[in-house]
Amino acid sequence: MASDTTTSGPGPQAGGTRGASAQHDDLVHRVLDDGFLAGDPFPDLARLRAEAPVAHHAATGAWVLSRHADVVAASRDPATFCSGKGILLMEIGASYDSPPTMMHTDPPAHTRYRKLVQPAFAPSVMRALEDAITARARAAVAALPAGEPVDVVAELAVPFPLRVISDLLGIPEDDWPRFYEWSEAAIPGATDWPPERTAELMGEMVTYLLATAAARRADPHDDVISLLATVEVDGDTLDDTELAMFLVQLLVAGNETTRNALSGGLVAFAEHPDQWARLRSGRAGAPPAALDTAVDEVLRWTTPVVYFMRTTTREVTVRDVTLPAGTPVVLHYLAANRDEAEFGPTADRFDIGRTPNHHVAFGSGPHFCLGAALARIELRAMLDALAARFAAIEPAGPVERSMSLVIAGVRRAPMVLTEA
Ligand code: HEM
Repeated sequence: MASDTTTSGPGPQAGGTRGASAQHDDLVHRVLDDGFLAGDPFPDLARLRAEAPVAHHAATGAWVLSRHADVVAASRDPATFCSGKGILLMEIGASYDSPPTMMHTDPPAHTRYRKLVQPAFAPSVMRALEDAITARARAAVAALPAGEPVDVVAELAVPFPLRVISDLLGIPEDDWPRFYEWSEAAIPGATDWPPERTAELMGEMVTYLLATAAARRADPHDDVISLLATVEVDGDTLDDTELAMFLVQLLVAGNETTRNALSGGLVAFAEHPDQWARLRSGRAGAPPAALDTAVDEVLRWTTPVVYFMRTTTREVTVRDVTLPAGTPVVLHYLAANRDEAEFGPTADRFDIGRTPNHHVAFGSGPHFCLGAALARIELRAMLDALAARFAAIEPAGPVERSMSLVIAGVRRAPMVLTEA
């Protein structure tokens, strides 16, 4: 990349990327179309990486980065590629009185948020959760019917991360059904509820979370709401608006992403029975050896967050394309995670022993996913519990994908699970 922000060399279209992009209008349009993920996106993404690694999207004026090295470099340079002007294409031109999430902030505001919320995600907090998560995973797997078709999305992938986040936040068991409805309302496009209904549910959720935070300030428990409600770093604390923003973000960021990593991962195993056998091999009461590398390969393979956006703060040259200040730039994680330049000739192979595996499913740089350790614990616990019980996972009908451009969603995945 002939850029002042990254170090990799020029692409195959060096000197002609802008021209190549003009020729690739249809391709870029397809890649940024809502239905794109419903089919097989990978041939188009491979073409994009090879022929137009910095590609112009005429409809929005955004430029798409599809190479791993470019996505990483831009993610690590928030001074040039900022988040404060929106992180989704639908936010181009939007302005906010206060940032809707910490993902929409840049240093120094972002650095302050990370400092304040980091304690809630400290390794010791995560370790303390691990036993409860493992117990939840085992109970969910034990409840699955064996030898008959089951939709692993509805039965496993939807409830599990939600239960984990409600445990994390300290939501009482009785409140769980409301919590489920609220979290669905918080995810754009998750339901076909009218906007007034989702707005009403979101309002209810914020009221509930703030009331719980106020109660925990007076009487702290061992949970994340208490930690965040009482956190103090160098005399600094989160005010109620920030607290509500952050708690809602935890729901959205930690729920649908983990759901789709899990359901997409199970689809991958059903389509690659040799990899399921490999995961199970070596089990003799001990966890399978490939579990940790399998979790990262599932993350790379599924890439639940397809892209996030940045906006240039100054003129910058990426490969041979000069982008003026104020240009929206799409960091295409899904394309980057299949880049042969990073993952070699097996980039298109689901290989649960892959190492190294520097995927960008959790992003990179200062906004690197705050919940990455939690998501890894959840996926590990679930794969372990499934591998302990089931010798085979087979497709039992077509997989339905959601029409989102941002979240690589699986709506329905019928499978037959056969006991060992
Ligand atoms: C497989 C599951 C997950 C995936 C694929 C994922 C993906 C991502 C990505 C790509 C980012 C980077 C945002 C950016 O660069 O603009 C991010 C940030 C974030 N994630 Fe996750 N995430 C997952 C699970 C979770 C969980 C379980 C939580 C918490 C409960 C969480 C909380 C967050 C937060 C708070 C941020 C913002 C960090 C910041 O702006 O500094 N995520 N995530």
